[in-house]
Amino acid sequence: MLEKMSDFFEKRLDGYDEHMLRNIQSAEEFYPFTVRQLPVTENCSVLDLGCGTGLELQEYYRLNPSARITGIDLSKGMLTSLKKKFPDKDITLICGSYFDVDFSASSFDCAVSVESLHHFTKEEKISLYIKLHEALKDGGYFILTDYFALSDEEEKMHRENLISLKKEQGICDNELYHYDTPLTVEHETEALLKAGFSSVKVLKNWGATYTIKADK
Ligand SMILES: C[S@@+](CC[C@H](N)C(=O)[O-])C[C@H]1O[C@@H](n2cnc3c(N)ncnc32)[C@H](O)[C@@H]1O
Repeated sequence: MLEKMSDFFEKRLDGYDEHMLRNIQSAEEFYPFTVRQLPVTENCSVLDLGCGTGLELQEYYRLNPSARITGIDLSKGMLTSLKKKFPDKDITLICGSYFDVDFSASSFDCAVSVESLHHFTKEEKISLYIKLHEALKDGGYFILTDYFALSDEEEKMHRENLISLKKEQGICDNELYHYDTPLTVEHETEALLKAGFSSVKVLKNWGATYTIKADK
């Protein structure tokens, strides 16, 4: 049965960190690698899309303890757990969908997202990335670590599976449901370029998990 996105993560909060670090392939490498791409300048401002319980932030604060973070996540429980980990940090947490939250007024040195954006279509991402592009300062950039479909056929199969599951279960609302529908790296790159990013490059990959850098 498909579950609403926020319910899915809310229900799996217990043991979430252990699950990610032990069971997700190459997590011990991609979290440290991802945060090494973030700015180390004092008091820089970083937006985290789908911050969850803050696994990437845990690593990042070791490199840059003064970073000012804005984290957006749908799950209240994940954010509560994150806040408890970093009681003394300058951190703004927003419970909501990054598709709906207005972040254009803010101005970030950098944005990051880890293992959160593989649920959405290219079209949905283009509108999100336009908003993100506007919210970055000149010279700012976006670091995306996520897993990707390895072919157009795989991407299409996931999307079609989701459509038929929704049909079978009589779901016709516009709510977000948890089902992995990763794009190919090529389609992700096209979405970022279409949104206005000037260059997009793959920094590293571990199987289907890639870290991509998009420059404003
Ligand atoms: C697999 S977790 C990754 C969390 C964290 N970045 C990490 O690597 O541990 C995915 C997170 O994305 C969040 N998420 C999914 N869709 C979202 C959306 N549209 N807006 C905000 N958060 C979202 C979920 O609530 C969940 O906490």
